[in-house]
Amino acid sequence: MSSITIEKYPKKINCLDLKGQHQQIKKEVFEAFEKVYENTAFSGGPFVEEFEKGFAAYTQTKHVIGVNNGTSALHLAMLALGIGAGDEVIVPANTFIATAWGVSYSGATPVFVDCDKDTWEIDASKIENKITPKTKAVIGVHLYGMPFDIDAVKAVCDKHKIFLLEDAAQAQGARYNGKAIGGFGEMACFSFYPGKNLGACGEAGGISTNNEAYKKHLHSLRNHGSTERYYHDEVGYNMRMGGLEGASLTIKLKYIEGWNNRRRAIAKRYQKEIKNQKIKMQTQPANADSVFHLFVVIPDDKNKFVAYLNEWNINPGFHYPVPCHLQKAYANLGYKQGDFPNSEKLAANCVSLPMYNELTDEEVTYVINIINNY
Ligand SMILES: Cc1ncc(COP(=O)(O)O)c(C=O)c1O
Repeated sequence: MSSITIEKYPKKINCLDLKGQHQQIKKEVFEAFEKVYENTAFSGGPFVEEFEKGFAAYTQTKHVIGVNNGTSALHLAMLALGIGAGDEVIVPANTFIATAWGVSYSGATPVFVDCDKDTWEIDASKIENKITPKTKAVIGVHLYGMPFDIDAVKAVCDKHKIFLLEDAAQAQGARYNGKAIGGFGEMACFSFYPGKNLGACGEAGGISTNNEAYKKHLHSLRNHGSTERYYHDEVGYNMRMGGLEGASLTIKLKYIEGWNNRRRAIAKRYQKEIKNQKIKMQTQPANADSVFHLFVVIPDDKNKFVAYLNEWNINPGFHYPVPCHLQKAYANLGYKQGDFPNSEKLAANCVSLPMYNELTDEEVTYVINIINNY
């Protein structure tokens, strides 16, 4: 730990700032919006299809089905797998709540499992004793943009003949064993919420799969259970992706690799240059190439650390302060404090450092120096 004199940064450095990215591509995005407007292709249509094709190529999968947000992607994936009332789906306790929503919307029950104490990803060794005759699937989450231990989780799924799904909402462009995430399970669910690494100018989501039958079913489910207009084969949903969202995503897809690499470079600096025993970081396995959607740390004393950062004009985030099993919404499931110690420790102490591609080198250096002086 060094003790150097630092001048307070003149403006707040936030956990996330979307302005820089959107100014950079404003002209291109507005031109694309104009095309959507002239074609009145506002719901589904050619601009969504163009993005679906591009994103399938990016994730090295055969099909991408665009939908209206990542939560819908998870919901529809459950339905396409035939999961519903009476079924159970295993989900990590430390994720954004929407991972569990998809399960609940289908009528099935989420069954929570703890994370690893170092990688903070779903702990494959704890899955097996959660499996019952009702278990139909495991949803692994690539948390904070870092791939979970897919080989280990898939081995458990294969042994018990249950489905593996990826919640890839935070991980567009991440790689596992050198291969793009998105094609390791039956399906992968993506969010293109504006704050994600690849975020639409609006709400959007998508599902990637290599399975033609799932694709066909998902096309129907997102469109009122219909493949022929005004004929409805099953109860469906209106969960199409909008044309403006699709067009903005096609523009951003050109830049995502560069943006992710910038995040990787910032993360590498945090990992190498933050030298403070009071700060613990997420362990990154050698085969997990993260896109660092978030850079979360656990300090020795959260309140003290956050007050210190605020005093120095650094405004961190908290992802996520309450684990799923302790949320009021799931009180009926009967979980209690102490059930998942690693997830609970993470929730109680997590602090997300500034992480977005337009952070300048000077700002990154400042954040590092401030933390080293803590
Ligand atoms: C892990 C995870 N799953 C699912 C979602 C849901 O995505 P959306 O906000 O697009 O509905 C999000 C993002 O918010 C997420 O972070």
